[in-house]
Amino acid sequence: MALEMFDLSGKVAMVTGGTRGLGEVCCLALAKAGADVAVCGRSSPDLKRVAEKIHALSRRAETFFIDVTDKRRVIQTVGEVQAAFGRIDILVNNAGVNHRVPVLEYAEEEWDRVINTNLKGYFLVAQAAVPQMIERGYGKVINMSSILGTVGLPNQVAYASSKGGVDQMTKVMAIEWASKGVRVNAIGPTYFETDLVAQIRKDPQRFKFINERTPMGRWGYLPELEGTVIFLASPASDFITGQTIYVDGGWTIW
Ligand SMILES: NC(=O)c1ccc[n+]([C@@H]2O[C@H](COP(=O)([O-])OP(=O)(O)OC[C@H]3O[C@@H](n4cnc5c(N)ncnc54)[C@H](OP(=O)(O)O)[C@@H]3O)[C@@H](O)[C@H]2O)c1
Repeated sequence: MALEMFDLSGKVAMVTGGTRGLGEVCCLALAKAGADVAVCGRSSPDLKRVAEKIHALSRRAETFFIDVTDKRRVIQTVGEVQAAFGRIDILVNNAGVNHRVPVLEYAEEEWDRVINTNLKGYFLVAQAAVPQMIERGYGKVINMSSILGTVGLPNQVAYASSKGGVDQMTKVMAIEWASKGVRVNAIGPTYFETDLVAQIRKDPQRFKFINERTPMGRWGYLPELEGTVIFLASPASDFITGQTIYVDGGWTIW
């Protein structure tokens, strides 16, 4: 049956930045498709809130503290997830930050914070979580990129650089692990209403620009991300690796 290819029953997913926004959407989508979820983040109340939503779907959820910029903490958290669940089948690298000022005003500390979270953080978590996938000969890594990985917009030099880097990192990991059963793909969303873009959502000019720039004429609705996450996590995408799938209402077509 075709739909069985999307079934994640018995799979264990680890999601970074799972406490809100797109990470929360990923956690719930994977649980709806049958996966048990290790919800990883920095805020205890939010971790608990997302875990409770997963429990309401009759799936197992455990919460774990992670700061993706801290290598020792990353290794410890991945170890804790493996100890709790026995393995990690699906890794969603999602934790991300942004800082918006022109290039010439961009502070070095902000550059480091954005790159260390959005790019180095993905690398560190994958480096810690993938060896046990390779040992078992199967795994799925999903890196949350952005349309900013391929298009340029002003005032986002570190963010766009990090997301371009994520797309390239996705390709390199995909090539290295293709023969070992580990598939690595990225998702490139357009603007979805989360805390990360709350400032932009409130700016009438920016809001209008985004709508006009998008062939479908609007921002994404959070549930519109679910299908792509489930697809890339499931056997339905087993012959796909190294790709970035844009969920963008057509933004990157032109
Ligand atoms: N929203 C959009 O329009 C959009 C578009 C394209 C791509 N994306 C990407 O989607 C991902 C999620 O973004 P979002 O919009 O959902 O943003 P968000 O609502 O601000 O959530 C960001 C998440 O990342 C976590 N995080 C940040 N730094 C972290 C760190 N050092 N260690 C662990 N967790 C950390 C946050 O945890 P805390 O609560 O602890 O801060 C939070 O859970 C990002 O990679 C972003 O670039 C978003």
